Amino acid sequence: MNGRCSRNLIARLLVFTLPLSILCGCYMNSRALSQSPRPSPTVTKESFGITKSGIPVDQYILSSGSGVTASIITYGGIIRSLTAPGRDGRVEDIVLGYDSLGQYEARHPYFGTITGRFANRIAKGSFSLDGKTYTLATNNGPNHLHGGINGFDRAVWKAESSAKPDSVSLQLSHVSPDGDEGYPGTLDVTVTYTLFSNNTLRIDYSATTDKATPINLTSHSYFNLKGHASGDVLNQKIQIYARSIVPVDGTLIPTGDLQSVDGTPFDFRNPEAIGSRISQVEPGYDHTFVLQDSAGLKKAALAWDPDSGRALEVVTSQPGLQFYTGNFLDGSEKGKDGTAYNKYSGFCLETQHFPDSPNQRSFPSTILRPSDTYQHSTLFKFGILDYGN
Ligand code: BGC
Repeated sequence: MNGRCSRNLIARLLVFTLPLSILCGCYMNSRALSQSPRPSPTVTKESFGITKSGIPVDQYILSSGSGVTASIITYGGIIRSLTAPGRDGRVEDIVLGYDSLGQYEARHPYFGTITGRFANRIAKGSFSLDGKTYTLATNNGPNHLHGGINGFDRAVWKAESSAKPDSVSLQLSHVSPDGDEGYPGTLDVTVTYTLFSNNTLRIDYSATTDKATPINLTSHSYFNLKGHASGDVLNQKIQIYARSIVPVDGTLIPTGDLQSVDGTPFDFRNPEAIGSRISQVEPGYDHTFVLQDSAGLKKAALAWDPDSGRALEVVTSQPGLQFYTGNFLDGSEKGKDGTAYNKYSGFCLETQHFPDSPNQRSFPSTILRPSDTYQHSTLFKFGILDYGN
C-alpha cells in the first residue's frame, strides 16, 4: 500500500472513535437530528433453558443504545449473538452460533465460548511444573485443546449484571476445582463483558489460584461481518499488526521458533482479502500471530466487510492472536435459523498466549502462581469502514 492509501485508511479509521449514529445516515434520520442525548445502554435477562443435568441457564442481552447488541448465555459464557448495523443501517447477526441450549451442550467447535483453562493446544496433554509432571485430558488427536473434554466452554457461570450511564456489564464467575481436567490448583475465574455506548465490547479476564498452574483464557467467536448466514468470509478484509507467526507441526504444535511474515501469505501488515492467498496455506489460516512487544493494550487486527462496511477492530493486552478461518467447518453444524456453516463461514480472532507455552521455554510464561493475579483485556470495537471496496 502506498503512502496515500495509508493516510486514507487512517482517515477512514476515525469512524471507530465516533458513534455509529453519527456515521450512518439512517441513524441520523431517526436519532441524531433531534438534539436528544445518546440513548443509554441497557441490559436485560431471560431464561435460556435448563441443562441436561438440571441447571438453569440465562441469556443476558447487552445493548449499546447506539446499534450493537451482544447476547451472552451463562452456559460457557458464550456470545450467542452479536448484532451490528452496516452502512445502509441494515442490522445483521455477525457471529456463528445456535438457537438452543441443547445444540450448545452437544459437542461444537467452540462457537463464541470462553475458552480455558488453556486455550489452544498443549502437546500430548502433558507438561512439567516445579519438578512435577501433569497429565491432562487429550481431546484433539494426541493433544489437549481448549481446556480439555469439559473445559470452561461447558461450565454454567454465575452471573451478575450492572449498568452505568455509558456502559452495561455482565460479570461471570466460575471456580474450577483442583485437578479439573488434570490441572493443578483451585482456579477462581472472572470474565466481565462490558458494552459501551460507543459500540465497543470489552472483555476483562482475571483469575487467582491456590497452586501454580498454566492459564490461557480467550473468547472464541467466529465472526462473519456480512452476517452469520451470508456464506464464506473470503472477500472480507483483514489487517493484522504482526511481523511474525508461531510456526506449527502437523498436529498444530509449535516448532519453538518464530517465523517472519515477510514475503509469505501470513503478511497482513497491509490489508488483504482473507481469501487472497488462503490456497497457499491449506486447509486455511490457523496460526498464532505475534503482536508487538508490549504488555499494555495495543491494536491486534482490523477486519471489515467491503460490501456492508461493517468493521471490527481488535485491541488487546495479550501477546498473540490466533487467526483461524473455520477450516474444519464442513456444513454439518446447523446453526441459527438452520444455517449450515461450511468451511470458511467465519473467522476467529482469539487473543491469547502462544500454544503449548507450558512446554516451550522461549515463549512468554503462562504460569499463574498463588501470589499473583492473572489479568488481561481485549476490546472488540465495532464501526463502519468505507475503505477498500
Ligand atoms: C483452533 C483450531 C480448532 C478450533 C476449534 C481454534 O482455536 O486454532 O485448530 O479447530 O479452535 O476447536
